[in-house]
Amino acid sequence: MFIAKRASQLTLSLHSKRGLSSRVSGVLSALNIPFNKEINGVYDGQWKGSGEVIESICPTTGETLARINTASPADVAETLTKARKAYLQFRDIPAPRRGEILRQIREGLANKREELGALVTLEMGKIRTEGVGEVQEFIDICDYAVGLSRMMNGRVVASERPGHSILEVPNPLGVVAVLSAFNFPVAVYGWNLALSLAAGNATVWKPSPTTPLTSIAVTSIVAEVLEKNNLPGALVGLVTGGQAVGETLVGSKEVELVSFTGSERVGRIVGQAVVSRFGKSILELGGNNASIVMPDADLSLAVPGVFFGAVGTAGQRCTSTRRLFLHRDIANEFLERLKKLYAAIKPGDPLEDDTLLGPLHTSSAVKLHKTTIDYLRSIDAEILFGGKDYDVTPYANGNFVQPTIAVPKSVDMSDRIWSTETFAPILNVAIFNELEEAIRWNNAVPQGLSSSLWTRDLRNVGKWTGPSGSDAGIVNVNAGTSGAEIGASFGGNKSTGWGRESGGDAWKQYVRWSACTINFSNEAPLAQGVNFSLD
Ligand code: UN1
Repeated sequence: MFIAKRASQLTLSLHSKRGLSSRVSGVLSALNIPFNKEINGVYDGQWKGSGEVIESICPTTGETLARINTASPADVAETLTKARKAYLQFRDIPAPRRGEILRQIREGLANKREELGALVTLEMGKIRTEGVGEVQEFIDICDYAVGLSRMMNGRVVASERPGHSILEVPNPLGVVAVLSAFNFPVAVYGWNLALSLAAGNATVWKPSPTTPLTSIAVTSIVAEVLEKNNLPGALVGLVTGGQAVGETLVGSKEVELVSFTGSERVGRIVGQAVVSRFGKSILELGGNNASIVMPDADLSLAVPGVFFGAVGTAGQRCTSTRRLFLHRDIANEFLERLKKLYAAIKPGDPLEDDTLLGPLHTSSAVKLHKTTIDYLRSIDAEILFGGKDYDVTPYANGNFVQPTIAVPKSVDMSDRIWSTETFAPILNVAIFNELEEAIRWNNAVPQGLSSSLWTRDLRNVGKWTGPSGSDAGIVNVNAGTSGAEIGASFGGNKSTGWGRESGGDAWKQYVRWSACTINFSNEAPLAQGVNFSLD
């Protein structure tokens, strides 16, 4: 009854045109987060925060959603100490029992799926179906990790010595720090937390400084499950804050594994800092993803696929389509059809059901969008669509920009328009004659996250997925560059950082591996037939 009442309040507040504050209060109270006061942004078993106060800003209206007490250096140190202690307790709990905790976390998230999705929309700016979708992604990876908790198997290796066995054994690793980005403020943490918990670790999360509310809401749900099961809350530590908080985690010897999602520039610093202390890292850095459309492609799939890839999430996925290579034979028709979709899209309040295009996350992203379009004009690129501000936007102070399609004159992939990731809805187009040429362009940039080929010809598929094909970590056929499921490992090659998260074999990074040779014979022979005896 209580839940039903809260759900209907939420529906009311999400659909009404009332002022922001009342919409925020509806969403926050449904998530049991206090409204209209400073909110503690540190959790180590207790909620606190004695660092500077930051504001969470709504990208749609520019209004302040909340004020957050972030982590001071002492808070970070204490959270790490408690995380270590929690790990020492948790590592001895059998993995299937850890899986049961994950199952309960999954339920907690599923119960708040709509509310949490709405909060993502309010704070990050993505449209509601995508906000809810990334909560679903966290739920999915919990399901996956529940199964995994009974399948994190090692191996028995055939020994060359009689009466010997060699076991490859995975054991819990320690403390995992997760530094996540604003664009997926729930799912990317979820990928890491689910595997890290299944593996028997404690996790300390530093979310983006611009999405603190979402991280507080997620942590509250997860912490409630731990508390109910008499497990230390410090297994799921949260430290909101800025650069200094991140630097402390990255530099700390108390952190065995750092999982970082963000720019190539910062990723380079993080990677070097972690390796200099011989820690482990998973890097998920820039994407600069291409879609290639062959003349035999089914355009009724390819056009909307590219449209979602380029304009979905207002172009703010690591996997967003930024480069489009069209075969000469279909280029005109494809662009005409794509422009029609671009023309039909209107900027809107991302909480409204019929909105497909919300704001960019920050005003600095709006500036980046503008300077990139200025650069396109300076190199005489043809602007096929967009390239200017909207005359009317739903809220004057929202970060709305018009999605843009451009055809740069040069196809030199070392030019910065092609080789740099711009985190905004700008799609650059080039025309090719042969698939090999398009694959060369696909591979000619530093980044290697996602890529997609649209074709119905099996021979093209073989080329694309084989040794001379795409060098990205995600290589799709008749599916866009973005929107990966959790079952496969997610990540990119080259300057995207080579990291893998989520499904596949990604869990193997969250454990420490040991090769254990066990001699159960009455002899002690040496390997390789080495003789080291005095007689
Ligand atoms: C990201 O943009 O950092 O494949 C993650 C996708 C999503 C995850 C994107 N499942 O687009």
